[in-house]
Amino acid sequence: MRQPVVIAPSILSADFARLGEDVRKALDAGADWVHFDVMDNHYVPNLTIGPLLCKALRDYGITAPIDVHLMVEPVDRIVPDFAAAGATRISFHPEATRHVDRTLQLIRGHGCMTGLVFNPATPLEWLDWTLQQLDLVLLMSVNPGFGGQQFIPATLEKLRAVRRRIDAGGCAVRLEVDGGINHETIAAAAAAGADTFVAGSAVFGKPDYRAVIADLRARAAAAA
Ligand code: DX5
Ligand code: ZN
Repeated sequence: MRQPVVIAPSILSADFARLGEDVRKALDAGADWVHFDVMDNHYVPNLTIGPLLCKALRDYGITAPIDVHLMVEPVDRIVPDFAAAGATRISFHPEATRHVDRTLQLIRGHGCMTGLVFNPATPLEWLDWTLQQLDLVLLMSVNPGFGGQQFIPATLEKLRAVRRRIDAGGCAVRLEVDGGINHETIAAAAAAGADTFVAGSAVFGKPDYRAVIADLRARAAAAA
């Protein structure tokens, strides 16, 4: 079942020196979720932010869903910390954990929603025995690690394949796409089945967040 469009700006491209303010500005401008990219310089070749900053956003008064995207290895050690820090959803890459089912149970056991993330070359077979435990499937449309990369077109076929699986399972799983989403690519991703859109460089750093977010949402809704 296709769910209403969600626009989730990635704070990877936000102003880190004024993070609370910049995140609030994006939410006031119509963003639905805060996409929170966690990188460890191990699973991906970059280093970003952790639970302390998630908690700092909550303490600052951010109440919107925080969509934590873990690009870390191992995964389990850090899950309880993010739950305690106020994460709403915790998504991870299946290759980065030893026991995928255990990690999913851990996330739900700590009161968060689950997501499984697929890199461009990661096969969808991981979904065979996990779909029922998922609240979200996240397809990377770039290789993880950096903002501002080009959308990989093969993601569209993969989105269609996941959409078929979700619809066949009759479950209310969100289908999120992450990487290179902007006014040129969002319609094709929506037409291929995505309902949740991460956008970093397309939103942050732009002069008018409201105009960008409204435009992205309109293009996604029209193509769905
Ligand atoms: C990449 C991150 C993305 C990134 C997207 O590893 O997962 O969330 O911030 O940035 P853009 O939208 O600029 O491609
Ligand atoms: Zn991300």
